Formats: sequence, C-alpha cells, structure tokens
Amino acid sequence: MKLLCMTEVDFIPKEYQNHLEQGKVSWQSPSNIALVKYWGKYGEQLPKNASISFTLSNCHTNTTLGFEPKSSEGFEFAVFLDGKLAPNFAPKIQTFFERIERYMPFLKEYSFTIETSNSFPHSSGIASSASGMSALALCLMSVERMLCSSRSQEGGMSEAYFLQKATFLARLGSGSACRSIEGPVVVWGVHNEIDGSDDLFGTKFPFDLHNNFKNYQDTVLLVDQGEKQISSTVGHDLMYDHPYSESRFLQAEKNLSNLIPVLKEGNLAKFIEIVENEALSLHAMMLTSNPYFILMKPNTLEIINRIWKYRRETGSSVCFTLDAGANVHVLYPENEKETVLAYIKNELFAFCQDGQYICDQIGLGAKML
Ligand code: PMV
Repeated sequence: MKLLCMTEVDFIPKEYQNHLEQGKVSWQSPSNIALVKYWGKYGEQLPKNASISFTLSNCHTNTTLGFEPKSSEGFEFAVFLDGKLAPNFAPKIQTFFERIERYMPFLKEYSFTIETSNSFPHSSGIASSASGMSALALCLMSVERMLCSSRSQEGGMSEAYFLQKATFLARLGSGSACRSIEGPVVVWGVHNEIDGSDDLFGTKFPFDLHNNFKNYQDTVLLVDQGEKQISSTVGHDLMYDHPYSESRFLQAEKNLSNLIPVLKEGNLAKFIEIVENEALSLHAMMLTSNPYFILMKPNTLEIINRIWKYRRETGSSVCFTLDAGANVHVLYPENEKETVLAYIKNELFAFCQDGQYICDQIGLGAKML
C-alpha cells in the first residue's frame, strides 16, 4: 500500500515519544541500473525527467548504524569503510545530514558510527552512492521508528510511511538512491502514465512485470575501475546550460512511455531498442556539454560492437546499458544465462580490467539485517 499525495511537509515528524539509549541497526541495500536515465536536476535533488530502473541483487551495501545520545552541539559521526576509518566520506555525510535534518530532528541528539561495506569495488562505476545512501537512509528510518512509540499519534509508523520516507531521504543523499529501496522495478519522477509517480521519491512500477523479465540478468563488465574523472554531480549541473537538454528530457519521457507496455507485454526487441538508445543518449549529453567529456573507454566500445555482432549472428536478446562510467551492464533474459555467460567468458572477458565482471540479476529491494 502506498500513501498518496505526500508532500515534503508530510515527512516532518511530530514530537518523538521515546528517548533511546545506545544501540545499532543494520540494513543491506542494493544498487540499481537505470533503463531510462536520470541526467539533469532542479531544486533540491529533483529530477528533470522521470527515470526507471531494475533493482539489482548481488551488488549491494551493508551498513550498520550505531547511535548513542550526546549533549554537544552539531552533527557527530564517524564513517568506516570495510572496518577502516574513512574521513573522505565525511563531507558527503555532512551534506546529507544538513539536507535531511528538517525531516529527522533527532540527528543532532545522537553521535553516530556508520560502518559500511560494498560487495563491489568502490567508485567502479557501479552506483555505490545509490546502495550506500539508501542503506543509510533505511538505518536512520529504523532509528526514527524506535523513537516513535507504538502508542503514538497514528498508532506507530506504518510500513508504507517507513518505505516512502526512506526513499525520500535516500534521494536527498544521492538522486538515484531513491530507486534502491524496493524492487524489482522502480520509477522516480512524475510521469503522467504512472499513477503515484513523484519527483520526491521512488515508487514501485505499478503494473505486473512480464515473465520475460523474471530474474533478468545483469552481468557488469568492469572495464575501468579507477575513480571517474567527472562526478555525476558535475555532469547533472552541465545539463543546466546544455544545448540539447530540453529535447533530452522529452526523449526520456517518451522512452518511458514506450517502455511501459514493453515491461507489461515482454517485447524484448523493443526493450533492447529503448535501453540502448537511453545509454547512448546519456553519453551523448556528456559528449556535447560545455565542457565536454568522455567516460567511455576504447574497451567499452569494443564490447558494445561485439554485443551487436553476437546479437546479429545468434538472434539473442542480449543488450547493454551504461551508467555514468566506462563499465558495461550486459542485460539478458534468464533463459539465455548459460549461452551469454559462456560468450562473456570466451569473448568479452578479455576487455575487462583484470578480467573482472560481476554476475547480478534483478532483485526485490533492501533487507534489514
Ligand atoms: O544519482 P546520481 O546523482 O549519482 O546520478 C545517477 C545518474 C545515472 O546513473 C547516470 C543515471 C541513473 O538514472 O541512474
């Protein structure tokens, strides 16, 4: 059940009923891969066009949030990545806390320890910010749930409110993170053919997904695992004065309109057309911004060309998509798992950095640990 017509004000809690002593909460949150891309924002992390993604399963972040009451002023937190203090994450968390304080007034009353680890390489182009920020948002919601007693105003916090506020908060951490709370398919941003879609948070695709997409596979070929030269924040900002931005936003809206019946009816040929068009359009925006930049690498193009050749020669339904990076997400139906994986091992493997790739598939969303 989803709560309808929520506005920002609805996420500001009334008085908390409880006071907590020290404690810990843990969540595992997945990454997601966009089929129709979000690239360009307005206001406070709001999308210029609606996007839609597959929630992943194996690419995830585990986060444990420890909390302890404190009396000092300001935010207090320490971040650990894989057990090691990670002070380079502090500015991002500080910004996140500042953005969400209005909706989580308890933040300054506790000192936090954030222990996080990813199942995939950090900054590999796999959205670690999506899984990381959604996991942290969920941990904070678990704390807020404990602060609201079961005898509170509306009889405790409903599951629907919990999830909706978690995706709302995650969005304020990193836009696409709001699509990492639930699964298997999530829409973010207002689209007039998707009831309940909203710029403020992600919502589950409200139609039944065709069986062709059941356990849909995503093998992520790691072409370049270095830090990106251009962050997605800079990339989004370059859409403000971009000569093609308005037509790009219209194109995304149309691609999402066309994808709705495809996901309902299972037309894989159309799926391929839309998904690859979106990936290349996203990178076309990067090639034509001012300043321009290229995130694809020679091996990205080599893999794309080989996927096209393989498809021509075998009639396979394999296709690719890209995020804001050089890695290639190879998407294909479960019934092609054996053949496509064999092809990847025989042919595409050679173009991955250190022969690395990650086998993943569509997933159902975050889990409390
Ligand atoms: O959530 P951000 O700000 O990292 O932006 C993500 C942008 C893309 O991954 C390129 C597209 C998307 O919709 O996920």
